[in-house]
Amino acid sequence: MTRVLVLMGGRSGEHDVSLVSARGVVDALTEGGFTPVPVVIDREGAWTRDGRPVTLGPGAGGVGRLIDLADGSVDEVDVVFPVLHGPNGEDGTVQGLCEMARLPYVGAGVAASAVSMDKALFKALAMGHGLPVAEAVVVSAADWATQPDAVTAEVAASIGYPCFVKPARMGSSVGISRVSSPDGLDEAIVLALAADDKILIERGVTSPREVEVGLLGTPGDLVTSPPGEITYDAEWYDYETKYTDGRAQVTIPAALDPALVSRLQALAEAAFELVGCHGLARVDFLIAPDGEILLSELNTMPGFTPTSAFPSLMAQAGVPYPEAVRRLVTMAMDRAGARTATT
Ligand SMILES: Nc1ncnc2c1ncn2[C@@H]1O[C@H](COP(=O)(O)OP(=O)(O)O)[C@@H](O)[C@H]1O
Ligand SMILES: [Mg+2]
Repeated sequence: MTRVLVLMGGRSGEHDVSLVSARGVVDALTEGGFTPVPVVIDREGAWTRDGRPVTLGPGAGGVGRLIDLADGSVDEVDVVFPVLHGPNGEDGTVQGLCEMARLPYVGAGVAASAVSMDKALFKALAMGHGLPVAEAVVVSAADWATQPDAVTAEVAASIGYPCFVKPARMGSSVGISRVSSPDGLDEAIVLALAADDKILIERGVTSPREVEVGLLGTPGDLVTSPPGEITYDAEWYDYETKYTDGRAQVTIPAALDPALVSRLQALAEAAFELVGCHGLARVDFLIAPDGEILLSELNTMPGFTPTSAFPSLMAQAGVPYPEAVRRLVTMAMDRAGARTATT
């Protein structure tokens, strides 16, 4: 039986969400006839299996070696399912480890993961290919330390207010502020720089609709969900609103006219293919009151709990949760098989 190393937790602000996502994946794998091998990565980065320290080493012929660091015993695994959200997992790091170990893994590769995690890189790539994104100024910690007045002036000249100040490589709205006037800019920049040494200051859309499209498959062979809409009783979708029960609702499918649905799906597929994603993604959009559509971000390992938006979107597209998990593992093995055949 195929042994699937399920990585969960991680050195990330989204550690807890990952644990819940992974529990759902483990159950679905069991139901699908796979053998899940759950490994928890703690907040400091230590890996454990059933509480025992383990590490992953390269095997031969695409088989991984899960090594028990206490007694040196080795267990083989066939494929990795990194159910990790945010930094140190959704950003190309774990994907690189799997590449080095020559192990098949679920989801986007190194470059697609890294580009999607970094809002500045993703935006630059999207703009370069004519996909619609909100204008932003990218500021480094060094820029802010050496020329804060130039930063403030550039924001006033090219972004305006309200603006959103956000760390480049984070998630869950951590470190993000909505700034409605120049008075609040310094504080917001300092907060974002505490989370990352690169930040974005982005044109704010007032009262946007927020919609998300799920994709499952490979470039050219995608199942694309209808959009779902997130609604909430807050000024914007901040951390507290995201993680307090009852504060936000997802409506699937979103009540949108068919032309808009097609446009959103086409943009989601274009983003998936542009970045070179594999397996799955959730593409998020903002729709301004005047109808302007803005591509907001692409998540290569979206929330995957049985009640998260991504599995609900795929279910709406005709792929229930256990089937989505089965397809993801199969796609990972097929990709690795195709590579072995050519290298
Ligand atoms: N340019 C913007 N205009 C309006 N709202 C925004 C903008 N950027 C972000 N937001 C709000 O902030 C939330 C989080 O921003 P996002 O870029 O999706 O970061 P994260 O990766 O943390 O989810 C969005 O869901 C939205 O509510
Ligand atoms: Mg978001």
